[in-house]
Amino acid sequence: MADTLTIGIDLGGTDIKGSLVDATGTLVCSRTIPTEAARGPQHVLARIAWLIEDLRRDEAAAGRQVIAAGIGSPGPLSCRDGVVYQAANLPGWNNVPIRANLAAASGLPITLENDANAAAYAEFVAGAGRGTENMVLLTLGTGIGGGVIVDGHLQHGAFENAGEIGHTIVQPDGRPCPCGQRGCLERYASASAVAQRYLEAARQCDSPPTLAGRGDVTSADVAAAARAGDEIAARVWDEACRYLAVACVNLQHVLNPERIVLGGGMMNAGEQVLEPTRRHYAALRWQLADDTLQIVPALLGNRAGMIGAALLARYERMSGD
Ligand code: BGC
Repeated sequence: MADTLTIGIDLGGTDIKGSLVDATGTLVCSRTIPTEAARGPQHVLARIAWLIEDLRRDEAAAGRQVIAAGIGSPGPLSCRDGVVYQAANLPGWNNVPIRANLAAASGLPITLENDANAAAYAEFVAGAGRGTENMVLLTLGTGIGGGVIVDGHLQHGAFENAGEIGHTIVQPDGRPCPCGQRGCLERYASASAVAQRYLEAARQCDSPPTLAGRGDVTSADVAAAARAGDEIAARVWDEACRYLAVACVNLQHVLNPERIVLGGGMMNAGEQVLEPTRRHYAALRWQLADDTLQIVPALLGNRAGMIGAALLARYERMSGD
């Protein structure tokens, strides 16, 4: 079993990433294809099936057998039933039986996991969470994903939605979220929220700020503008980090983790996220006990989702044998 391979797939709104992964979490080979999400779930499923087949072409060259595949998908979803209920950025995804579909297409045992849970598991086993028993991962991307490890175990909860930290409410009556709530963390502190909030604030401003007039602003643009002295960008960025710090304090009290690991595209800004988030956390946290957690950057970058999905597929396959 140790010299077999598993496939890890990270299903995103823009790209599908896939790789062959060994028992230690090392990537043997990887590919990325566009999701083409606008063409609907059947088309996307066919693309994932194609990617699995394509990766298996390298199985012979690697001289090792592929024993299972793991899929990391945005949720909410049911790992138990293998169904994605809804997925942000994947239009038309309502109750998609992804596991049955891909198992039939590939002939492989398929494990389904929330994308951020998969990434959290990878960081726990082989990244920034190594050496801890209790950690939380936040992925700062289009949404905010979360994954929770307690006493060395990935948490799913009674209804399999544990770790949906992007939908914890940081502002009652705040900004509407497509999930149906208001004031969700991901409406303030995700990469897409930072870009959107900047554009909104810039429109209301008399003197045009640096990025005014551009429709395609990203969180990286806002980060650069903040560094260059754009006051609106600096304010929006700092507010996002303060909301992240609020989430960290709340996670501290609910879970008491040793570490919160920050990953996702917005973390390309590195210290520009870490320094203000740590500063706000230090100002907001309680003083009654010395249970300060560490806020650290993820180490596996955009490979975490694939690695985690592949390792979880291996784990499920081995516990099923
Ligand atoms: C979804 C999560 C997902 C995250 C990142 C959120 O909007 O609710 O399930 O992990 O986005 O993709």
